[in-house]
Amino acid sequence: MNMNPRHFTSLLDLSSEEFRHIIHRAIELKNNRDPNYQPLKGRVLAMIFEKSSTRTRISFEAGMVHFGGSALFLSPRDTQLGRGESMHDSAKVISSMVDCIMLRTDKHETVTTFAQYSSVPVINGLTDKQHPCQLLADMQTYFEFRGDIRGKTVAWIGDGNNMCHSYLQAAKMLDFTLHIACPAQYQPLPEFVSDAGKHVKFFDSALAAAKNADLCVTDVWASMGQEEEQKQRELAFKHYQINAEIMSSANHDALFMHCLPAHRGEEVTAEVIDGLQSVIYAEAENRLHVQKALLEFLLSI
Ligand code: CP
Ligand code: NVA
Repeated sequence: MNMNPRHFTSLLDLSSEEFRHIIHRAIELKNNRDPNYQPLKGRVLAMIFEKSSTRTRISFEAGMVHFGGSALFLSPRDTQLGRGESMHDSAKVISSMVDCIMLRTDKHETVTTFAQYSSVPVINGLTDKQHPCQLLADMQTYFEFRGDIRGKTVAWIGDGNNMCHSYLQAAKMLDFTLHIACPAQYQPLPEFVSDAGKHVKFFDSALAAAKNADLCVTDVWASMGQEEEQKQRELAFKHYQINAEIMSSANHDALFMHCLPAHRGEEVTAEVIDGLQSVIYAEAENRLHVQKALLEFLLSI
């Protein structure tokens, strides 16, 4: 047992060099799949999901199996966490039995509290504030298609949500510029904006934000837990859809990404998300490869 485990509650738990290392290692693992390479043989990942998931659950579970280990799916409904057992006790007990813990939670503080009391690495599988695993996959995808993202321009159009916050952190760490166009009442939180410093620029319109972009990214208008706001958000975001006009304002070889699940006809048109510039399926698949690289990194320290 390591009393000072490395956690991944946020991209900021990595250095810029480590971020780039994980991306390159993910590309290597993807291109040279060796079934005999099982660095996590006999190791166990506990996965706690307070919210739904397709990609996160399957990629972590499959990744652990590829590496010779296994993963446990735990929902708060079926564990004592759902009946109010403290996070302090839960983190201490669960981490005494497994080698790594992944959590997808409503509150970001749940993940950081777990990390505080866990004796094994804790991974953020999405919170209300951040989605760092998705950024690892998005950046791997950009590197694969276009090379290093340093000096490039990324346009974030839509909600200033958990994905947007993680893009703000990635912009500073990997040295790209993030153009943001969000409705006034759905801006990213000020602390994420100020930390990004000169790497972020705000625009009044989606068209202006996309100008000269190398990558255009969006996400659902109503995230998990905001379903009741769907109608009011549809009104607020109606001018923040990525469509063919927006893509034509970006560079001619710009890519389109979306963490998925997507709502065609809302934040993005079918023409764009199913079009030639879209790399959404590589992006989703890369969750598997990059999280294997992350697990290898965290568990081999
Ligand atoms: N992008 C993403 O995290 O997908 P899931 O919600 O399906 O895990
Ligand atoms: N912003 C979305 C991302 C889903 C992967 C949400 O939090 O629901």
